[in-house]
Amino acid sequence: MKKILVIGGSNSIKSINKKLAIYAAKKLENVQLNIIDLNDFVMPIYGIDYELEYGIPEKALEFDHIISETDALIISLAEHNGSYSVAFKNILDWLSRIDQKVWKNKPMLLMATSPGKRGGANVLEAAKKFFPHLGGNIVADFILPSYNANFNEKGINNDEYEKLLVEAVAVLNKAFNSGIHSIKS
Ligand SMILES: Cc1cc2nc3c(=O)[nH]c(=O)nc-3n(C[C@H](O)[C@H](O)[C@H](O)COP(=O)(O)O)c2cc1C
Repeated sequence: MKKILVIGGSNSIKSINKKLAIYAAKKLENVQLNIIDLNDFVMPIYGIDYELEYGIPEKALEFDHIISETDALIISLAEHNGSYSVAFKNILDWLSRIDQKVWKNKPMLLMATSPGKRGGANVLEAAKKFFPHLGGNIVADFILPSYNANFNEKGINNDEYEKLLVEAVAVLNKAFNSGIHSIKS
């Protein structure tokens, strides 16, 4: 059974991005979901001096190993001041010190949502541009604007966005089942 790593790019215990990532992941059938909580991967703030003195934190090595073991990734990024949440970026920086190809060319569905009208478009664009340099193989992306209007306890309540998400998940499904990898990274 294929393993799917599901990441909400936030350390909020009520993270809307974690909810969206899980909602998308549950559309896949016959897969094993590994839902990550960033609070289980707390590590010191990245700094070259810390790294030289103490090396790579165990939690970062553990995270890197989890990515190695997975067949595909579903990530939904929180947007803080137009960029990654500090919790996510810190982990990303540590991971990049273990393996510059952080995402290891595994097929990825990359998403973002926020309560705002742009739904985290800035962070999504930044990640779409940069993840390919980190071994990111983004096969589909999705953005859900105005989270509070478009998502309720049952999931997405807007037909247009629901259709787009279903299509994006189908693209991911095809990618990890056929083993297609992007050649961009
Ligand atoms: C420090 C901070 C900065 C934020 N900056 C943005 C922003 O630039 N764009 C945006 O759409 N929402 C912004 N928000 C609102 C977040 O999108 C909102 O808190 C959302 O719930 C974050 O996702 P999460 O629930 O998965 O953590 C910001 C929130 C915080 C706390």
